[in-house]
Amino acid sequence: MRSTGVDYRGMNGLGPAESGAKPCFFVTRGANRIAAKRKSRKEEGGMGSVTFRVAVLFALASMAAFGCGKTEERGKAPSGGTPATTETGAEKTAAQPEKGAKPAERGATFGVETENGINLAVTDIKAEGKTWPEMITVDNGGSPTQTASAVKRFIDSDKVSVILGPVTSNEAIAAGDQAEAGMVPLVTPTATNVMVTVNKKYVFRVCYTDDVQGPMAANFAYDTLKARRAAVLVNSSESYSMGLGDAFVKRFKERGGEIVSQMSFTKDTDDFGAQISQLRLKSPDAIFLPAYYEATAKCISQARAAGLRSTFVGTDGWDSPNLYTLSAGAVKGNYFTTHFSPQEDRTAVKRFVQNYRAAYNEEPGALAALGYDAAMVVFAAVERAGSSDREAITKAIAETRDFDGVTGKITIDANHNAVKNLVILETGEKSASLKTVVSP
Ligand code: PHE
Repeated sequence: MRSTGVDYRGMNGLGPAESGAKPCFFVTRGANRIAAKRKSRKEEGGMGSVTFRVAVLFALASMAAFGCGKTEERGKAPSGGTPATTETGAEKTAAQPEKGAKPAERGATFGVETENGINLAVTDIKAEGKTWPEMITVDNGGSPTQTASAVKRFIDSDKVSVILGPVTSNEAIAAGDQAEAGMVPLVTPTATNVMVTVNKKYVFRVCYTDDVQGPMAANFAYDTLKARRAAVLVNSSESYSMGLGDAFVKRFKERGGEIVSQMSFTKDTDDFGAQISQLRLKSPDAIFLPAYYEATAKCISQARAAGLRSTFVGTDGWDSPNLYTLSAGAVKGNYFTTHFSPQEDRTAVKRFVQNYRAAYNEEPGALAALGYDAAMVVFAAVERAGSSDREAITKAIAETRDFDGVTGKITIDANHNAVKNLVILETGEKSASLKTVVSP
């Protein structure tokens, strides 16, 4: 295939080792997922030439072994277009979550979906005859500490040019601090907490921020649901959830609504009984629950079993097919803000949904769409920079204007965020449907 795009190996006349920098994409969560993928690649055996390298990092415990005992596998990406090599550390640690960490349930959809979106972008770029740079994928285990170590390694040892990821805000904040210190551009597809990009020259995102998402959720509760008395329930372990809670409260009060209860839980909460009792006493019109889908599924299932009928309003952290399976459909009849719906009536969406279905045999969610867009934005920036130089790529990313993405037009603003429409979805028993599209 003729290459019209950027090939890092040829750049500056130097290979990656000599040029001292190679691009890196850092996207994944969830040891279970990685383990499954490794297995299927092994089963597939040697397929084609290797142009796309994936390094998989498991738990902290295996990091010491990372540099040695590497196994190499060749296989096929899910879309069939991207040959891959996987390099890993100690294989036996693959399925063991970090000590003290919760099982990598979230990784089962957040990481997979984001990576699927990125891989689809790679396939599309290659279909245009362009060369996608060498790629290393590391599983951060859903931990900010591991994320920070992984980013440091990308910068110091792998000498990467650009980092793509991570998915959630706590980890993006940890990753961003390291990227900033190491002066390497990082683009998170999906992390929405305001702090992610504050005072950062090298950190960007292709999604909107929670000071848009929280107020839009409050407006929806007030205007569409006609809620006047709202309760707020946040996960105090997540900056994402805390930031959204504050933003919602501020806007809901500004609109003239009353906040009748503000409560929290933590990442270890399994029993929402205390919170639900309090909510039943207050009987709010709406309950704002800016949480990831595991906690959401638990909380709403328990609330409904206890007879609490108030409408829940959530945010993009609900956006997972597992919300419906984990709650056995109990989440039906609630609403959440997110970035994308496969039902949106736009040509870019239709094309993306069709290609995604063909590649993965499922519907894409917001993470897939944002992963796709982030990879495309980074690739376009790398092409414009025409170099593997970290500063040149940083500058090119900052100059992104009116990029036609699946999730809408992407312009990186002065604060390194993208200002975009939100979509509000209504939850059914098995999936969500598009309720409305709102402009900030
Ligand atoms: N916005 C979430 C965060 O910052 C991540 C997320 C995005 C999760 C989109 C699901 C869908 O933590």
